[in-house]
Amino acid sequence: MTNSIEQYLARWRKEVDRTLEENLPPAKTPPAIIHEAMRYAVLGAGKRVRPILAVAAAEACGANPEPLLVPFAALELIHTYSLVHDDLPALDDDNLRRGRKTTHVVFGEAIGILTGDALLTEAFSWLARSTNNSRAIREVAEAIDSKGMIGGQVDKTAKLITGSVVLGGLLANASDEKIAALRRYGESTGLAFQIVDDLLDQERTSEELGKTAGKDVAQGKLTYPALIGSGAARKRLEELLQEAVDNAAVIGGRVNYLAAIARYICERRS
Ligand code: IPE
Ligand code: IPE
Ligand code: MG
Ligand code: MG
Repeated sequence: MTNSIEQYLARWRKEVDRTLEENLPPAKTPPAIIHEAMRYAVLGAGKRVRPILAVAAAEACGANPEPLLVPFAALELIHTYSLVHDDLPALDDDNLRRGRKTTHVVFGEAIGILTGDALLTEAFSWLARSTNNSRAIREVAEAIDSKGMIGGQVDKTAKLITGSVVLGGLLANASDEKIAALRRYGESTGLAFQIVDDLLDQERTSEELGKTAGKDVAQGKLTYPALIGSGAARKRLEELLQEAVDNAAVIGGRVNYLAAIARYICERRS
């Protein structure tokens, strides 16, 4: 590998941002308020972890990710919808996200709800128009249905991350064996991602995170660190990283950034 992980993430973040910018409905298209709000929510300072995981999975399975950017960027629409709704007064009631005011604070609660709905629908439109692989579309739907992201507590983040990694493999026409390893990689990496999110909530400032810190304790959330303590949560994180690295090795491939991304996720500071 010639590129550092930072360069890899920056390169694909830019590609994902461009894909989102070009494919989201223009802000002036009626109903303009919804399209403005969709663009406001999506085109902020997100890390784009889910699309980049799909890119890395596809690449590890031997595909060129470039022509797959529209279905992979659809994952970011789904993720953003989940954030917009998660921040609503009826849920986490948050007013800061990605370093700026949450969508419902800027556009009002009704538009916030509709914007989330519109992003979710837009995502499946992008998926359906960019692939005829119905198994891949179903994989994404099941990752976020009532038994997936909607239903889970601690593991809801892991569901979409797993779905993202598996989508990358499916659109690269990977073998069942590689898909199974990608799924295990996604489950470990996804759970690690949420544990880190919970630890950062306790350890960092709102300024560093671009979202309100210290909310989980304030709202009495059943997070990993709250349930088992920060020390045990860190130990679990190490185990999950090792599982992710082992499964990344099973997938193999000429260019494989999956282990490096899992490490980045565990060591990130925001
Ligand atoms: C935050 O997700 C919410 C969780 C699912 C834990 P990210 O940390 O990926 O947020 P952005 O997209 O970079 O803002
Ligand atoms: C949200 O988890 C996960 C979603 C799927 C929306 P959190 O509530 O911990 O996410 P943040 O901390 O608000 O980003
Ligand atoms: Mg929240
Ligand atoms: Mg959190």
